[in-house]
Amino acid sequence: MPVRRYAVLGDYLAANRHAAAEYDDVELELVEGALPSDLVGTLLRNGNGRFEHHGVAYEHLFDGDGMVARFQFDGQRVRYRNRHVQTAELVAEEKAGRMLYRSFGTNLPGGLRANFGKTQFKNTANTSLVAHGGQLLALWEGGLPHRLDPDTLATLGRFDYEGVLRNPFSWLDRRITPELPFSAHPKVHPTTGVLHNFGTVAGRQHRLVLYEVSPAGQARIAHVLPMPAATFAHDFVLTQSGHQIFFLTPVAFDVLRALTGLASPAASIRVGRDQPTQVVVVAPDGQAHHLTTEFGFVFHFVNGYQDADGTLVADALLLPDYPDTLSIKAYLSGYLPDDQTQARFVRFRLDLTRGTVTRQPISDYEGELPEINPDRLGQPYRYTWIIGRPPHHSLPLLDHLLKLDVQTGEVRVAYQPGTLCSEPVVVPQPAAPGHTPPPEDAGYVLYLRFDATSNCTELLVGDAATLVTIARLRLPHHIPLGFHGIWLPDEVGGLH
Ligand SMILES: [Fe+2]
Repeated sequence: MPVRRYAVLGDYLAANRHAAAEYDDVELELVEGALPSDLVGTLLRNGNGRFEHHGVAYEHLFDGDGMVARFQFDGQRVRYRNRHVQTAELVAEEKAGRMLYRSFGTNLPGGLRANFGKTQFKNTANTSLVAHGGQLLALWEGGLPHRLDPDTLATLGRFDYEGVLRNPFSWLDRRITPELPFSAHPKVHPTTGVLHNFGTVAGRQHRLVLYEVSPAGQARIAHVLPMPAATFAHDFVLTQSGHQIFFLTPVAFDVLRALTGLASPAASIRVGRDQPTQVVVVAPDGQAHHLTTEFGFVFHFVNGYQDADGTLVADALLLPDYPDTLSIKAYLSGYLPDDQTQARFVRFRLDLTRGTVTRQPISDYEGELPEINPDRLGQPYRYTWIIGRPPHHSLPLLDHLLKLDVQTGEVRVAYQPGTLCSEPVVVPQPAAPGHTPPPEDAGYVLYLRFDATSNCTELLVGDAATLVTIARLRLPHHIPLGFHGIWLPDEVGGLH
């Protein structure tokens, strides 16, 4: 299929090819507007901190070693610090001066000879962050979290919740997956404060493992469900009613090909386009319900909840197909196919009594990296903030910032041609005791923006309701836009 090079994407990749320098709490230059005095707290973002290592270009967007960026807002200034996550693998590679580990989508240079039998993969710690149970963790869905010092962002090492994330299954299972994966999309229940998360665990028997972590930080394995394949699942839905929803799509790793080194895990993925997606719902009583829906792939859910009639709603960004490794490699050279199809907003309704799944499109806009008002997690909600692409946009890039009303389909857009935006993180206006709760879209939206002409990445503070820019600040350098971030208001942000 025809591919074309897109200058803004090529410039972005070139600007962030090498590991960024680290800064220590420098004050960012305000270049437009004024910082709101009530915007007090910390934005933390994680992402791929580079696109090559020791001269070897990563072949997958998910492979760059993690880098955490911190922005501390005090109502007048923003202080900025960034640190590369010092995983054991990165430290060993830096010492050796060459790439030593295979990663999700990148085999070692040298073909099968260099990769044969290399069963240890790099934990890039690059996908997201969570602050819960007294810990600040950098997350990667293929392995253990890494604990970070919340003051310095120094890496304190792999974290296994006192052994809970050590593989408890058979000897062979442990050989295949020694450490249980802990996904990068944990969710904290809005009422109980319990953190729920999952891992897809490849083994002699593939398993979906569900975890719970108490507000005090005590973890346990809550459920173990067998899976027929080593399914690739990135996100899930947690509802306030306590239902957990998983889409096990027919997109699965060929574990033998990946482990032997014949292919990277990403390149080993097989897609069963003629097979349905298995929808697994774990109810609050622990019972697992198994439903099916047509083929499609979901990286991210927007939100989900139980409706008044008992139906479960799961809003997803649905891809018509899983993106193949060749198109991702082309993307990393700045190229995109002309007919690039991105994910679309789809509302799934799950009726556990009838065993049915129905779907309804929410919008013609395409998008990825959706955020919501965090106070609406697991409950009926109205808005999502996301990077996206309007219908008929001339570029196949998700280069717009969108705010979508999921009830009416109405969209607001912020767009600056020649730029790319990060995932927008929503800072809701706090509810005042004894007063009517503020509107769901009252507050701020924080995001990074790449602009090749400015020679440095910008941090934007937008009005969450209108997307109008309130303040624009300049970082001292370019950093990758990354994957996921969190906002820690001061009262819960202090981890000590
Ligand atoms: Fe994600």
